[in-house]
Amino acid sequence: MAQDALKRSAAKAALDYIEPRLTPTTIIGVGTGSTANCFIDALANIKHKFDAAVASSENSAARLKAHGIPVSDLNAVANLAVYIDGADEVNPDKQLIKGGGGALTREKIVAASADQFVCIVDASKLVETLGRFPLPVEVIPMARGLVARGLVGLGGAPELRSGFITDNGNLILDVYELNMDDPKNLESRINNLVGVVCNGLFAENAADVVIVADDDDVRILD
Ligand code: 5RP
Repeated sequence: MAQDALKRSAAKAALDYIEPRLTPTTIIGVGTGSTANCFIDALANIKHKFDAAVASSENSAARLKAHGIPVSDLNAVANLAVYIDGADEVNPDKQLIKGGGGALTREKIVAASADQFVCIVDASKLVETLGRFPLPVEVIPMARGLVARGLVGLGGAPELRSGFITDNGNLILDVYELNMDDPKNLESRINNLVGVVCNGLFAENAADVVIVADDDDVRILD
């Protein structure tokens, strides 16, 4: 099956995680990227099951609105039932690398706000050890050089993502060659570099559930 069809299968399976709650409103978190776009398109069919969505990027907010799905500001939301998003890599502990689309900071914020993080991927994203995909790090522009030197000190080879500005007005360094044997430790050490806004390791707060689509079926890792 083509990769796009696998993304659509994983996205469709995630609809099972959207359930109306007993709370007055059910708000869901929605991620960013091509797999998340498949999910947004699928969501349009079950609009009656939730009240609004919080988006992790301006692009996703625009796509949600184009489907007539109300988009809420995270600060106006008391409870976020579930966050659904793709990933660039997933290891057996459901730890992730995210940020290929540059939305990692808002993705981490919305994921951290939700009761449950459901990650949707095609099987090509599964790895034994994270790190083949370069780690995106969002950086305050004036700290670009300082942070790059810090990342070299951690064993990485950072490259500025050319011509890219995040929704928060910052830069992305894509970092190659990092040792990810201890993802939680690395996540925290990178976050401690002054000038780093956020990095794309989702290790301390991994996914709760991973939905994986391959040619044969859709599997749930939970
Ligand atoms: C965006 C992300 C995406 O979830 C990640 O890049 C995967 O994207 P895709 O579903 O297009 O493969 O983290 O910042």
